[in-house]
Amino acid sequence: MQMSDQLVYLNGEFMPLSEARVPVLDRGFIFGDGIYEVIPVYGKRLFRLDEHLDRLNNSLDATRIPNPYPESEWKKILSQLVMKNEAEDQSVYLQVTRGVAKRDHAFPEKVTPTVFMMSNPLIVTSEEAFNKGVAAITLDDIRWQYCNIKAITLLPNILLRQTAIDEGAQEAILVRGGEVTEGSASNIFIVIDGVIKTPPKSSRLLPGITRDLIVELAQKNNLKCIEANFSRTELEAADEIWLTSSMKEVMPIVKLNDEPVGDSKPGQITRQMFNIFQEYKAELKRDLD
Ligand code: PDD
Repeated sequence: MQMSDQLVYLNGEFMPLSEARVPVLDRGFIFGDGIYEVIPVYGKRLFRLDEHLDRLNNSLDATRIPNPYPESEWKKILSQLVMKNEAEDQSVYLQVTRGVAKRDHAFPEKVTPTVFMMSNPLIVTSEEAFNKGVAAITLDDIRWQYCNIKAITLLPNILLRQTAIDEGAQEAILVRGGEVTEGSASNIFIVIDGVIKTPPKSSRLLPGITRDLIVELAQKNNLKCIEANFSRTELEAADEIWLTSSMKEVMPIVKLNDEPVGDSKPGQITRQMFNIFQEYKAELKRDLD
């Protein structure tokens, strides 16, 4: 399917991507005044949909953008979008902006939010990609104080990610006040002496849906997992490091700031977590068939 043939959703209608248009005065375009979600789809089923819709609601509340649809309507549109796309595994992107209005920083009166959704084939982390892992660098977390909101205003994240790429790495690990927060588009886990650690949820990081699932699965599988802050020094001394996101699932970091992590291969607990995650997805598919 050509990209322009892809059916997307815009303000109540499905249409080819090439026909989707938003007015230039949309506050998403002018101010980055909007929020978004990325929802993975496995075997045509939206993964952890309730959790994604809860986070969407929190982002809308925090930005005081009225929720344009009740939950049942979101579910209906999202499943229609998934069915209109061919791939079994997809990545749904949805965005809500405050709407179209004369440029003024203050909220406009009587404005209707703009809702856009598209879905693309999801290329999950293959065994090969997992075995290779990725390189990361640490950078100062230059973002704002509400990183728990999934805002479309991503300029700091973009600049941080590009700095990592310019330095030959794939992800930037962010450090604020001496403590590690998350990646530029991912959450972070480390393993020290067999104990898994991830920073606790706060306004300094996005409450990742994959992160929560990994914590849940680690506990279910009797792996010791704690939610606690850790420093850059602890990160650099970690035996294993991995990132999580709806796009990457579980992705090992094998090189940090040009130094090997462990023996430059995905660690044993990272591998175990990857397998547990794959098994969880497979089980879900079996249950739904
Ligand atoms: N990003 N932290 C940040 C800053 C993120 O942007 C993301 C995801 C995550 C992981 O959240 P989840 O597990 O719910 O995907 C953590 C998406 C994938 C993106 O911006 O494309």
